[in-house]
Amino acid sequence: MSYLPDRVPLHGPKFAADPHAAYAELRRMGPVGRVELSPGAPAYLVTDYRAALDLLHDTDTWSKDTRPWQQNQPADSPLVPMLGWRPNALFNDGKAHERYRSVITDSYALIEPHQLRRQVSKVANQLIGEFAAAGEADLIGQYARRLPLLLFHAQFGADDQEGPRLEADMAGMLDSQPDKAIQANINFANYITELIRSKRLQRGQDLTSWFMDHPAALTPDELADQIVLTMLAGNEPTANLIGNALSRMLSNPAYYSSLSSGALTAHDAINDVLRNEPPMANYSAHVPRHAVHFHGTWIRPHELVLVSYHAANTEPGPTADEKTAGGDDGAHLAWAAGPHSCPVKKPATLIATVAIEQLTRRLHDLELGVPRNELRWRPGGFHRALAQLPARFTPIAPDPDGVSPWTSSSPYSSTRQDKTWSPKPPACATSGPLYG
Ligand code: HEM
Repeated sequence: MSYLPDRVPLHGPKFAADPHAAYAELRRMGPVGRVELSPGAPAYLVTDYRAALDLLHDTDTWSKDTRPWQQNQPADSPLVPMLGWRPNALFNDGKAHERYRSVITDSYALIEPHQLRRQVSKVANQLIGEFAAAGEADLIGQYARRLPLLLFHAQFGADDQEGPRLEADMAGMLDSQPDKAIQANINFANYITELIRSKRLQRGQDLTSWFMDHPAALTPDELADQIVLTMLAGNEPTANLIGNALSRMLSNPAYYSSLSSGALTAHDAINDVLRNEPPMANYSAHVPRHAVHFHGTWIRPHELVLVSYHAANTEPGPTADEKTAGGDDGAHLAWAAGPHSCPVKKPATLIATVAIEQLTRRLHDLELGVPRNELRWRPGGFHRALAQLPARFTPIAPDPDGVSPWTSSSPYSSTRQDKTWSPKPPACATSGPLYG
């Protein structure tokens, strides 16, 4: 009989370099494996697709309120910022969850797809314009990680000048030096406070104003928490979706031979990533409401159980079609499933698609700067994210008037972007999303 480790680490460079080795080891423990989320921090991880669906849909047994787990964590736990309870959609159940979630879905429904497309194109062109003349770029640091942040910044109606501040805070929150990360968290909280203060003085056509005026009547703390959740829950996975899809496109000849007119499209790359490299690799923190025997493992009420979207999606065995039965999203769980599945998957898909299309249309001969097997992945168990994506391309000249980064003589020059967008009046919609 082969040796089974007590717990498989879901952290560190070894996991980042080869998560599939960890998932294979975990599968030998059964549908639910024992993991270590950070040194000395145990949890269970569901690696089996069917067990994942059972958990995500069974709200009688499983709660998103992580406080029973949290009360046993040390004060300096690195996990509590990601997994600790907050008064937001992610960490609440039932009616409280529905109330918080409706604010996010109703407000996003006010941004029509063509407006979103225009907003993303504008940010994309701005970013591409910053490196287009250089002939090389890190498409993670200079594009994929920046685009969602600057987009949120605009969608939440923040002052244009404050964009670099949000970027610096978000980067700082990921800093491995604890004092820098703590300071960045404080700065980010101040950014949100100032944003809310400015919208209290004057509403705009933006998510902050719509969150404020929503019939759910959020308290000031709840308002801040839904904004923070939306920005944080949206930023990391969207950046990873763009980055992971670009890395696949640049290293697969089916895309690579002709990026702007190839047989496979940005949409194909995104679907490929959602199935095989989900941007949120492992998350979905749950605790059982009572002791439960779940797919062969006894779990007690204060114990934390996560779902591995990455392992469940890529488990050997069932085909994509077989998995479709019962899944909210067909053959993959990249958006999770059940009541807490991503509320904005259609807008998020559109954001990633437009971001990739703009880049590959403008820089039509993009190629990887290093072989794909030399790309480095960021450590950390929750995400599947490249650290860098070096790329080369034929330089193109920015437009001198600064409206568009493209010279009009370029065969790939874009049409000028509108300076403003015109969403509907700020009354809150109660209808469903417009993306369906
Ligand atoms: C505009 C971009 C996005 C925004 C604003 C956003 C927002 C959110 C919010 C608010 C939740 C919590 C929902 C709830 O608990 O009811 C959520 C959940 C989730 N989102 Fe998104 N999201 C975005 C993009 C993405 C992308 C690109 C992915 C990956 C493909 C993703 C994957 C998920 C997953 C897996 C969950 C479940 C969280 C969990 O594991 O507990 N999201 N998202």
